[in-house]
Amino acid sequence: MSPTFRSDAYIDGKWRASAKRFDVFNPANQEVIAHVPDFGAAETEEAVAAAHRAFPAWAAKAAKERAAIMRAWFDLMMGDLDRLARLISLEGGKPIAEAKGEAAYGASFVEWFGEEAKRAYGRTIPSTTATRRYVTIRQPIGVSAAITPWNFPLAMITRKAAPALAAGCTFVVKPPSQTPLTALALAELAEKAGIPAGVFNVVTTHDHTADVGKVLCESPLVRKFSFTGSTGIGKKLGAACVASTVKKVSLELGGNAPLLVFADADLDLAVKGAIASKFRNAGQTCVCANRILVEDSVYDAFSTKMTEAVAKLKVGPGDSDGVEIGPLIDQTAIEKVEQMVGEALASGAVALTGGKKHAAGAQFFTPTVLANVTREMRVNQEEIFGPVAPLIRFKDEDEAVAIANDTPFGLAAYLFTKDVNRAWRVAERIEAGMVSINDGIFSNEVIPFGGVKESGLGREGGVEGLDEYLETKFVNFGGF
Ligand code: SIN
Repeated sequence: MSPTFRSDAYIDGKWRASAKRFDVFNPANQEVIAHVPDFGAAETEEAVAAAHRAFPAWAAKAAKERAAIMRAWFDLMMGDLDRLARLISLEGGKPIAEAKGEAAYGASFVEWFGEEAKRAYGRTIPSTTATRRYVTIRQPIGVSAAITPWNFPLAMITRKAAPALAAGCTFVVKPPSQTPLTALALAELAEKAGIPAGVFNVVTTHDHTADVGKVLCESPLVRKFSFTGSTGIGKKLGAACVASTVKKVSLELGGNAPLLVFADADLDLAVKGAIASKFRNAGQTCVCANRILVEDSVYDAFSTKMTEAVAKLKVGPGDSDGVEIGPLIDQTAIEKVEQMVGEALASGAVALTGGKKHAAGAQFFTPTVLANVTREMRVNQEEIFGPVAPLIRFKDEDEAVAIANDTPFGLAAYLFTKDVNRAWRVAERIEAGMVSINDGIFSNEVIPFGGVKESGLGREGGVEGLDEYLETKFVNFGGF
């Protein structure tokens, strides 16, 4: 049975229908599961105006009062994990167990930031003259807007909305047209939790994505904009935010994460970590290991173990028992993966397992290990966003670091080694915002998540994540 869901947008505390609606599909079988309002600039302006009206009262609440409301929102999410997971799986294709993990991960931001905002301390600064006193205070930046991706339809909203609301900001989100139902379920729970009208708004759109984005980036009422998605689009949105109204911007963009396996690594642990990282959400995760670099002397042993493990991964619809790899999000995604793998094979790569679409349906790709991959191939240079693990040989640490850093991106990196000195050394040398040692999964609410180079600006999660929604104001007391 399908999980229950709302299919109208949520603006200013009201459920808003529209005659013009777009279809939401189940990526496992391409069936239509819902019709959602296809709103445009006018409704986005209404949402922004509502957030602007709601801001003074929400910002004026004590952090502890906001935290209590957010705690209620968190509790409702945790009490509704099964339905949220089924919804994430239905519209996004994620296996149910993984979707449940995402729902709990998403909820954790709401709990954590609600608590953390109680500690948004300012400073006293020893003044330069005896006649003055200096302090800083930290204030919510104002209306915050976000455009979020389909690969984590719940967690990528709460990772932005939770620090915003906790800091005292109000929030307008445009969820992706592939996965709007999870965003609307979050709004339903926000309403139940007592989050006041206008504080959390969801504007759904399909045909008017560019118009909605323009309002969110250019409205003078919006003071902060956050985006998770591709580097190409992020650059354009970031530029529009700055050129129009000099907004504060956070961008969490594409990655090309290297996973380095050194000869001194525990190879079983490295295979386990590589699978956890590479095949999370069928490879559709910004921090997925995109390419696996393996030291020459253990290349054969590692590739044999990796191939055996990958060949066992169970592929199928997210709601089937024991499935580990669901469908890709849409036809464009599967075509891109097919094309990249085809190009690699035509240029000399070898599929040790997989290498083609899977019989489970039109949008399923067989988990793949590619050997003999070279640095020139697109699978090494671009984010694959599919269940494909390219293996590349390296001869020593310097070469491994050089290959790892030879990309405009710098989101995550992974390394497997038993040598602590090497771990420190390489972690320092790798150009990435996040480095994980001997572990394929690291994301949680307390860490600063974000990238360097063309992988983005700013951090989400952790104390750094709250800073993104606060302004530091300096106050001078003179005349002593
Ligand atoms: C992402 O793909 O951007 C999010 C992954 C995560 O939070 O671990």
